[in-house]
Amino acid sequence: MKKIDLLQSVSLFWELSKEELGHIADKMVSSHFENGNYIFLEDSEGEKCFFVVEGSVKVTRLSKDGREVILTIMNPGDFFGEMSLLDGESRSANVIALEKTEVLTLNREDFLEVLHEYPTIAIQLVKEMAGRLRKSDRQIASLSLSDAEKRITMCIIRFADDQGVIKNGKVSIPKTPIQQDIANMAGTSRETVSRALSILEKEKFIERNGRELIILDYKKFIKEFDS
Ligand code: CMP
Repeated sequence: MKKIDLLQSVSLFWELSKEELGHIADKMVSSHFENGNYIFLEDSEGEKCFFVVEGSVKVTRLSKDGREVILTIMNPGDFFGEMSLLDGESRSANVIALEKTEVLTLNREDFLEVLHEYPTIAIQLVKEMAGRLRKSDRQIASLSLSDAEKRITMCIIRFADDQGVIKNGKVSIPKTPIQQDIANMAGTSRETVSRALSILEKEKFIERNGRELIILDYKKFIKEFDS
């Protein structure tokens, strides 16, 4: 496929004409990676920005005890490696191919020039980065859940599996057990259940309407808590 066609799948470039896309595509270089290949390492110097056109990659860091923490997974249309080009710091994370992957790359100078030349791309970039920050904020909030609170989310998933009804893309649990019963199932106190449900509601994972509990994005809920 021609570079320009590949670029049309990248959200950053959606507002550009074919001619403008062609201008940017001319500056880009295609690279291929196999499953498990490191695309770059955390703390290395940032030289390029990457646009995924095929396959997928994981963005990872190592925890203090040496475990791999996956910050996010990127698919076709996503981009990565912009942070160190923007702030001049080193790479904030590792990026590793999860399958056969093709990326288009733009070097630092061209990337910064494109942002100056096309303000619509710069605005899209800021929007995308705001979305990423929101996701990270949610992730941090869920990390602060204790084990008991995690068990409560597991109970909610179980109720959804048992009695969930799909309604406008959301999963409704029409008759959630009372908080004391949830507490008994999760091996915790009613107060902890009450607190956990309030956090989940505040973080917009669920809505409550009397006994009805609605999971606003079931896939996301599962991804966040079913690990
Ligand atoms: P950079 O720091 O240059 O290299 C690692 C890249 O991973 C980074 O740019 C971002 O593109 C991406 N990245 C780092 N942290 C996150 C995150 N929390 N969510 C999504 N992408 C991230």
